[in-house]
Amino acid sequence: TLLTGLMIVAAYLFGSISSAVLICRVVGLPDPRSEGSGNPGATNVYRIGGTAPAVATLLFDILKGTLPVYGSYFFGLTPLSLGLIAIAACLGHMYPIFFGFQGGKAVATALGSIGPIGWDMTGLLLGTWIITALLGRYSSLASLVTVALAPIYAYWLKPEYWIPVLMLSVLMVVRHRANITRLLAGTEPHILDKTQRKT
Ligand code: G3P
Repeated sequence: TLLTGLMIVAAYLFGSISSAVLICRVVGLPDPRSEGSGNPGATNVYRIGGTAPAVATLLFDILKGTLPVYGSYFFGLTPLSLGLIAIAACLGHMYPIFFGFQGGKAVATALGSIGPIGWDMTGLLLGTWIITALLGRYSSLASLVTVALAPIYAYWLKPEYWIPVLMLSVLMVVRHRANITRLLAGTEPHILDKTQRKT
């Protein structure tokens, strides 16, 4: 429908606001696209600038998923439409039109876009990320395990949403190719390791 189309465009544009780049600029940190892993996301902002700017980035990136999907949810759009709007928000974050199409991996934005489905889903996803991060001490591994389990959680808790969630998960995994290669090679840095590396 027209409304779905409009929300897809709005979600992509809003998702294209690279909070990592902007926040680093505002607080006088180097561009996250040329430091650390080169990824404009909360993990890499943490590597470069520590907790406060990382948390700000995380929250803003979550909102980029939550706002458009929550708004559309109220308009009564179907699960498939909501899924497409969530994907548009994540594609904005990954390929931002305002930042030379050099974006991040959209883990926070995807989590935010799943939020409106319910606190049970959100809690499980957050819990999975945190537990995997504590056990493995890799941000990327925590993200990958979480996105792999997300469609299964959805199938169990919100079956009408499992296909849109699966589509988001596939997108995330594809975007973590470089991380997967490094994890398999044993060269991925641990969360607290601030060593330089380019994605
Ligand atoms: O969640 C982001 C994380 O999965 C990867 O970020 O900077 O370690 O490649 P980074």
